[in-house]
Amino acid sequence: MTDHPAAPAAIPAVSVPVWDLPTRLFHWVLVIAVCALFYTGLQGKLDLHMKLGQFVLGLLLFRLIWGFIGNRQARFSDFIAGPAAAIAYLRGLFGSNGPKYLGHNPVGGYAVLLMLALLLIQASTGLFASDDIATDGPLYSKVSSSLSARLSTLHRLGFDALLVIILIHLASNAFYLLVKRENLISPMVTGSKTVPASTIMPVQGAGPVAALVIFAICEIVVFAGITWLAK
Ligand code: HEM
Ligand code: HEM
Repeated sequence: MTDHPAAPAAIPAVSVPVWDLPTRLFHWVLVIAVCALFYTGLQGKLDLHMKLGQFVLGLLLFRLIWGFIGNRQARFSDFIAGPAAAIAYLRGLFGSNGPKYLGHNPVGGYAVLLMLALLLIQASTGLFASDDIATDGPLYSKVSSSLSARLSTLHRLGFDALLVIILIHLASNAFYLLVKRENLISPMVTGSKTVPASTIMPVQGAGPVAALVIFAICEIVVFAGITWLAK
């Protein structure tokens, strides 16, 4: 955990790297892709939808790997906390002396895991879904029609669940900005946060070139793997 105490006036503030480039790119590409998936899914533009969905599956696979080798804040070990830490965080949420975190706080960490899990379920169920008109997911023929019908229902319900958690995500960003006067959004853009100089320095992870290679491999595995399984 990279928690840091509230800044006493005497301690100078420094800018430290928090979100590495691959994590930031992952986030903003995911945002654009998920918006496009909602649009193409609801408009019935399913050929493009299915390609984008598989792309997101590759993106998620990359993030799962990056959660072990990215910089400190990107790692699951940094933000998967026990319930006690989450309760302590919630207790201190409205005061000024509660624990502060460089990366995701313990409650935000649960929200991130939930979003990633829902996205994974959404992308996986899509592979077996069908609109019962003209378009079937690439692995539709690999399951019975009753199982495909259930997975299609799950794909439609998953959309609602995702929408709810994304709205909560946006509301909590607005809460930090407007109520707690803490801008979480700009570090997700620039990568850096201004914190007291006493804050534990971040741990470097694998670099952007390694990230690009791993990302490319993830996409190849997903697209080639699904094509192979669909045969
Ligand atoms: C489709 C919409 C969105 C999805 C699915 C989404 C998903 C996520 C995920 C998975 C993370 C964790 C990042 C990681 O550790 O890899 C995250 C973090 C974050 N997102 Fe989003 N996001 C969405 C939209 C937005 C928007 C529009 C904003 C800004 C207005 C935003 C601001 C942030 C911030 C600031 C964090 C870091 C929070 C922290 O400091 O703990 N997100 N988001
Ligand atoms: C995170 C990724 C995904 C999101 C957010 C998403 C979202 C959606 C949405 C919003 C719909 C419209 C549901 C409705 O009409 O109520 C839809 C339908 C559909 N999606 Fe996805 N999808 C994703 C991934 C995929 C993937 C990977 C595939 C297949 C390769 C896929 C295949 C389909 C199909 C076949 C339909 C039509 C199902 C029906 O009409 O019931 N989706 N998706």
